[in-house]
Order: sequence, then C-alpha cells, then structure tokens
Amino acid sequence: MRRKLAAGNWKMNGTKASLTELSAMATAADGAAEVLICPPATLIALAADTTPDIAIGGQDCHTAASGAHTGDLSAAQLADAGASYVILGHSERRADHGESDAQVRDKTRAAWEAGLTAVVCVGETLEQREHANTLDIIGGQLAGSIPDGATAHRLVVAYEPVWAIGTGKVPTLDQIAEVHGFIRARLERRFGAGVGRSTRILYGGSVKPSNAVEIFAVPNVDGALVGGASLKATDFGPIIEAL
Ligand code: G3H
Repeated sequence: MRRKLAAGNWKMNGTKASLTELSAMATAADGAAEVLICPPATLIALAADTTPDIAIGGQDCHTAASGAHTGDLSAAQLADAGASYVILGHSERRADHGESDAQVRDKTRAAWEAGLTAVVCVGETLEQREHANTLDIIGGQLAGSIPDGATAHRLVVAYEPVWAIGTGKVPTLDQIAEVHGFIRARLERRFGAGVGRSTRILYGGSVKPSNAVEIFAVPNVDGALVGGASLKATDFGPIIEAL
C-alpha cells in the first residue's frame, strides 16, 4: 500500500511571514495522506519547528557531504536543519544550472547517505512530446538519475512535464496514466516488483484544487508535487483533502 503524498515546492518564494501558512495547512493534514513542504533553505529550520504534522524538505543538495563549495548546501546540513526529504533534478535546476542526469544521480546518493528521501523529478519538454519522444526521455532520465539501491522509503519519483509547470496546461488524464504506468514498469524492472510497486510516483505541473480530484484518480498517481498552489493554505488545503 502506497501512502499518498501531497508535496509543496515553494521554489524561491516565501519569508518568515509565510510560516503562518504552514500552521493553516496542518489543519488539512488528517494523517491519512503525508504532507510535505519544501520551502527555501532559509526557512527549513523554522518550518521544521512550526508543526510536526508536515514533513519538511530541501529543494536541492550538493553531491558532497561538506567542503569548499561556496553557496551550496549538503544533504547532511538539510537533515540537520530538520529536513527529511529533498527534491532533486527539478527541471528548473536542470535548465537554470545545467544539471545532468549523472549529477542528479550523485545528489540522490548523497541524500540517501544523509538519511533523506529523494524526490527525483523527470519530465519532457513540449518539443520532446510533440516529437513523440516522451517515454524515451523519461526512461533515460530514470535510468540516469536514480542510483542503484533504491527503496520505496528513500525514493519518490515526480513526473513533471516541463510544459505544464506554471503554465495552467495539464496533460490529459490518459497521458498522465501512460507516463505513470511506464515509470511504474521501469521501477519494477530495475528494482524488483516489491520496490517498484511500493515506490510513490507524484504528478506535478499546474495542479490546483479544481483539477486535483481527477488527477489523483489516475492509476499510479500517488500524490502531487505542487508549485504555485502550495504557497497558500487556501489552495493547498483542498489539494491535501483531495488525496
Ligand atoms: O515542483 C513543482 C512544479 O514545478 C509544479 O509547479 O504547480 O506551479 O505548475 P506548478
């Protein structure tokens, strides 16, 4: 049985004043589904102290545990601040920072060594979808970005079509089902049926209260990775409740 997960990625949004939203979100978290918020790193420690009902995560980590890497954060530092998850390989980091699958794989390994659960993101661009390359792209990202040794406890996969992020565009339910089914099959093939069937696969890209119920009903959708609609409890609360 896979426990549903509502994950919010605040990206480069939020200040200390935003922590009041966390308390409000906690009222929607009834324990049935797991709730995760990944705030900017400046807020992780404060967020972790705000409510025990919401797990806290980082949005990136370095491949090394410590060292001369100005401006970077290690997985161990995220864990020390109170994080239990970290998002890795988000398309914005792949685009803005040129992150490769190999780097995401090494970051995932570092996250596991620090005891964090890695939310590894994959997704195709619009051009790749229009050229019917979606499954090839997703397959390559999965193979390259996830190290050997995955378990359902330390891995979550997030399918985020790049063209759906922050655009209001969402794939059809059949398209989501196709990709999630493909990811499930690849996880089972590589890590075995037990791990493959118990690893959670999230959908991300323009999830809102108005479309959450139908997306969550798609086979192999175990929750969502939500950007814009995770910033306010009035939006994220109904998404949590839709799980
Ligand atoms: O990590 C979250 C995704 O990039 C989705 O963002 O919900 O604003 O489209 P969005």
